[in-house]
Amino acid sequence: MNYEFASDNTAPAIPEILTAIAEANHGAALSYGADPWTDRLREVLTLETEFPSTTIPLLYGDLVLRGVRPRADGSYPLADLEAALTPETGAVAVSVVQYASGYRVDLEGLAQLCRDRGLALCLNVAQALGLAPVDFAGLGATFLAGTSHKWLMGGYGVGVLAIKKEWLESTPLPMAGWLSVQAQDQWQPFVHAERDDDPEGFTAWGTRIRREASALELGAGSFAGLHGLNAALALHEAVGSTTTLAHDVALQLELRKRLRDRGFVPSSPDVPATLSGICVVKVQGDPQEVVRALVRDERVVTTARGGGLRISTHVYNTLDDVERLLAALDTLGVKPG
Ligand SMILES: Cc1ncc(COP(=O)(O)O)c(C=O)c1O
Repeated sequence: MNYEFASDNTAPAIPEILTAIAEANHGAALSYGADPWTDRLREVLTLETEFPSTTIPLLYGDLVLRGVRPRADGSYPLADLEAALTPETGAVAVSVVQYASGYRVDLEGLAQLCRDRGLALCLNVAQALGLAPVDFAGLGATFLAGTSHKWLMGGYGVGVLAIKKEWLESTPLPMAGWLSVQAQDQWQPFVHAERDDDPEGFTAWGTRIRREASALELGAGSFAGLHGLNAALALHEAVGSTTTLAHDVALQLELRKRLRDRGFVPSSPDVPATLSGICVVKVQGDPQEVVRALVRDERVVTTARGGGLRISTHVYNTLDDVERLLAALDTLGVKPG
């Protein structure tokens, strides 16, 4: 089918283009501009201490972010999130576990709030996958994204994305690659495009891609990474995320008690319901120097995050490791900041 467009801007060229694209995409993923959610979703509620991978893509996507400030103890009670909602808020985007404090949000409560208010729920699970159970379907969450190289221990370079079917069907995917098309459409550079030939060349526009999350796997995968992820998932499934979380919470309670006895103050409450495998405490001096000294002199690995020393415990750690860390802090003379 050929479309002819008038050469001046007052002619109704745009509706014809949209019609052409809509026809080209009939039965396949929506094309850009045909998104019924765009008008509804302008403002997203998030947390002030989020990792930037939650916030920057949304800011870059021209969404308005509404932020919730943490309480003095580092917590984000559900009531504070609810109070910060405005009539403009269309979604909530949070990390299930906060990287700079270890605070784990009330997922059940948040999901219920989103269902009650008709809000989309976007979960960054980078610091939760492999540590805490996240029932994407059961929660009725809308989006979930996370990396494989943290608690999942699946190596670098791959990650996971889940999109609620309803959104997948009604929202255009932001990009397409050669593997985004149907299998029978592969290897055809202009598949499903409208084409207008002229003596010097031709003009092509529009295509059709699959309406599946895997259409976002745009090209050849990171196969080594995917095998690593697969092996890591098998390991985690054998242990069970409920077991892992219970182990970590118990160990964090011990760690935090001993740290508090020494005057250190964790930047999130010692409450099992909001604990993860992360504890961050302020130290005297540059936390990065403390991290270096701990690994160089005492062979204890920590991280500098959230303005302090981040101490992480996973399912393979024991109370002996906690004691070893504390002895290392004593030996190095690390003081609360
Ligand atoms: C939610 C979230 N938190 C934290 C991080 C950074 O992790 P870390 O502080 O362990 O380097 C990332 C990086 O991908 C992330 O997506």
